[in-house]
Amino acid sequence: MQLPSPQELVMDSFAATVARMPALRAAVAADPSAHRVLTGERPTGPLHLGHLAGTISERVRLQRCGVDVLVILADYQVVTDRDVADRLAEHVRGAVLDQLAAGLDPDRTTVFVHSAVPALNQLMLPFLSLVTEAELHRNPTVKAEHAASGRALSGLLLTYPVHQAADILSCRADLVPVGKDQLPHVELTRVLARRFAERYGPVFTPPEPMLTDAPELPGLDGQKMSKSRGNAIALGASADETVALVRRARTDSQRRITVDPQGRPGVYGLLATAALCLGRDPAELAETLDGAAALKRVTADAVNDHLAGHRARRAELARDPGLVDDVLARGNARANELAGRTLDDVRDAMGMRYGSARPVPAR
Ligand code: TRP
Repeated sequence: MQLPSPQELVMDSFAATVARMPALRAAVAADPSAHRVLTGERPTGPLHLGHLAGTISERVRLQRCGVDVLVILADYQVVTDRDVADRLAEHVRGAVLDQLAAGLDPDRTTVFVHSAVPALNQLMLPFLSLVTEAELHRNPTVKAEHAASGRALSGLLLTYPVHQAADILSCRADLVPVGKDQLPHVELTRVLARRFAERYGPVFTPPEPMLTDAPELPGLDGQKMSKSRGNAIALGASADETVALVRRARTDSQRRITVDPQGRPGVYGLLATAALCLGRDPAELAETLDGAAALKRVTADAVNDHLAGHRARRAELARDPGLVDDVLARGNARANELAGRTLDDVRDAMGMRYGSARPVPAR
């Protein structure tokens, strides 16, 4: 099945992306090996239940059907909105373990970091020349992240969507699974691919975003789940830590448990979590529960049962001291190979073919 050309698509809205998903899924199913996926996250803290339910399961699914999957642990993105990357190596390591425990196979999936791929980072320079400062300031996700940071806007926060475009285009991914908040970045990537073509020739194909079907899991307080809010259950947490976290969740004294995201956010966060882990409908589950204590007990048990397999595999993998380094070394090597080739094409297109440029092929 042929993908429609990017020009035929209106990609500037969430609705358009949602509407596009069935066709994309069908295209992937028809010829999985024709596609390359890049997705990833910034290693600001431990990965949590929301990541597993949404993005990581989707990666595993794509890998299993034969798509070339690359996962970037975006270490330079950690310092967009903070001074130092706290416990970075630990979070990168934990993220690798979680991907593997969830079923990503390092023989088929490439896991890599920004800081190990010079050619990717160099692509940022030509790409920066293709956007204006005004365009960068209009990115709604950057604006929201800047507001949440409570700090001056750093040059990196302002320009990181361009860096993210370099992630995507350096490995020539055609599909980019992301959450809704990342759609502006994929849109910018498409714009950069087209502008590069207008100025220098067709080196890049605009990639398409993919949204998962999984509904977004709220945190234990009913707010957006986030590593920094302390409302998320880390995949690598112990069963006891999970019980303690659930116990701390703020509920109320009404006996009847109801689905009320606005009025009873804490109750809703627990209920949604338990329902996801049990594979049940939240409203139906609510009817079987009597009071917040029962809700907390059921939630903690449900999460611990649901994550038991993942946690056991994770602990087993963590016992192998060389594993994470080995997976990253292989992933970084492949990302360097792909980005190096792309940068050579960019140099050729821009007329920067001298000295260290691509060697003339041997005769
Ligand atoms: N910005 C993404 C996030 O915060 C992480 C990310 C970095 C990413 N590079 C990417 C996602 C490339 C998809 C493709 O979640």
